[in-house]
Amino acid sequence: MEEKKIAGIKAAEYIQDNMVLGLGTGTTAYYMIEKVGELVSEGFNLKAVATSQNTADLANKFKIPLVSIDEVEKIDLAIDGVDEIDGRFNAIKGGGGALFREKMVADIADKVIWIMDSSKVVDSIGAFPLPVEILPYGYSHTLKKLKSLSFNPVLRIKDSVPFVTDNHNYIADLHIGKAFDIECVSQKLKSITGVLETGLFLDTCDIIVIGTGNGVEIVENRRDQ
Ligand code: A5P
Repeated sequence: MEEKKIAGIKAAEYIQDNMVLGLGTGTTAYYMIEKVGELVSEGFNLKAVATSQNTADLANKFKIPLVSIDEVEKIDLAIDGVDEIDGRFNAIKGGGGALFREKMVADIADKVIWIMDSSKVVDSIGAFPLPVEILPYGYSHTLKKLKSLSFNPVLRIKDSVPFVTDNHNYIADLHIGKAFDIECVSQKLKSITGVLETGLFLDTCDIIVIGTGNGVEIVENRRDQ
């Protein structure tokens, strides 16, 4: 079975009846969402907050009851994909452009599980361009600022026009390479006017589920060690 599918299906085993779920975005999350649909059809009483319009469309297709993030006190379990993750559970997300909602959903979740194929696990993050969500107003100046700070931004383009997120913003993909101080970069980016959120997720997830050629590998984030 495909690695992404193995991971998506395995993570669904953490779902319990009556949970409020956070549904991630992307090709790996697809398999988990499909499985959630099966659980609902078997009688599980689940509610879900979607991290993107694409995911909301999938949830509707699989008849998963959706609620808005403002209708829930918290999320019991958020399951999402990832673009790159290192051994300290620091990650880059947002390849699909859903990073803002993914981060907000993770922030209010009791438990966060990330699902992935084995290519996503790296020694140090940064080979994957770091997406940041930027406001369209003044975006050329935000890009200039990012460039002046050596973040090598590239405005994400789709169908010859700027890619627009579900929040009606733009994405700049930063080509900063591997050797960077993750916390310092995160803080610097967040302090720039025009940058709304970054795809750097620092020590956010509790469990990672990796699909491999030999089955599934599960690693817990033991913060007490
Ligand atoms: C969406 O914005 C991303 O954060 C995805 O979760 C991430 O890109 C993983 O996607 P795949 O599972 O499709 O590789």
